[in-house]
Amino acid sequence: MTEKIYKVGPDEFTVDEARLQQALARYHEGKGLIGGDPRKRPRWLHPLPPEPAPAFRLLQSSPEHIERLKEFLAAAPLEIEIGSGPGDFILDRAQKYRERHFLAFEVKWKLVRELTLRAQKAGVENLWVSDDDARFDLPRLLSPNSVDVFHILFPDPWWKPKHQPRRLFVPPFVDVLALLLKPGGVLRAATDVPGYADLIREVVEAHPDFLPHNPKLAPFFADAHPTSRQAFCDKIGRPYQFFYFRKIT
Ligand SMILES: C[S@@+](CC[C@H](N)C(=O)[O-])C[C@H]1O[C@@H](n2cnc3c(N)ncnc32)[C@H](O)[C@@H]1O
Repeated sequence: MTEKIYKVGPDEFTVDEARLQQALARYHEGKGLIGGDPRKRPRWLHPLPPEPAPAFRLLQSSPEHIERLKEFLAAAPLEIEIGSGPGDFILDRAQKYRERHFLAFEVKWKLVRELTLRAQKAGVENLWVSDDDARFDLPRLLSPNSVDVFHILFPDPWWKPKHQPRRLFVPPFVDVLALLLKPGGVLRAATDVPGYADLIREVVEAHPDFLPHNPKLAPFFADAHPTSRQAFCDKIGRPYQFFYFRKIT
């Protein structure tokens, strides 16, 4: 078993490759997914706004609704946020760039409901949302080379060993991001956890399809509304880092 230590403030968190591989080997069974196997979850307990609202669950929405979603995803340049929290960033971005299409994943269903309602109230029609685990949906929903930008902002570091398989920045999920991005597409990430920043950079830069972090891409996102975590960090003076990785062309 390879074991690596990353510093996180006073804590340290490990990367337990054996545990990760074990969980990922059973990924198709829903193991390691947040909320468990989506096929077994009693989702009727957590209602989304009814169709045709632009909110979906891959395994529970009607085939017609998913078909509409797929048409939406293919119809314009596409940006996807994973872990949108309350959604301030993505809602603002969808309002600023009406000619682009946006998709946001957030496993907390109440936040997704609220975001859908806020978007409807604001007349935003270029944003769809889901409370599915993005890791389950993305490879099932999208074709290779179809995404312009992924935003993964202040992701949970999941440093407890039993939660490690939930991390977004692990090689198998970085493979998915690389596959789905268009050539020249951008993976934009941020974190206020120094150890996780090291891990993000190391895992993405080790991937043959990504170029090294390029801060010169920051101006393309200069008008981005802060996420809720980012606003909190600004308020308490906690430092954070942004990363911009372009996929090779
Ligand atoms: C630390 S919060 C940051 C939220 C927001 N990006 C911000 O900066 O304020 C991370 C969010 O990602 C969500 N999340 C974590 N893993 C996810 C996944 N695989 N799919 C969808 N959402 C996820 C969590 O529920 C949580 O709300």
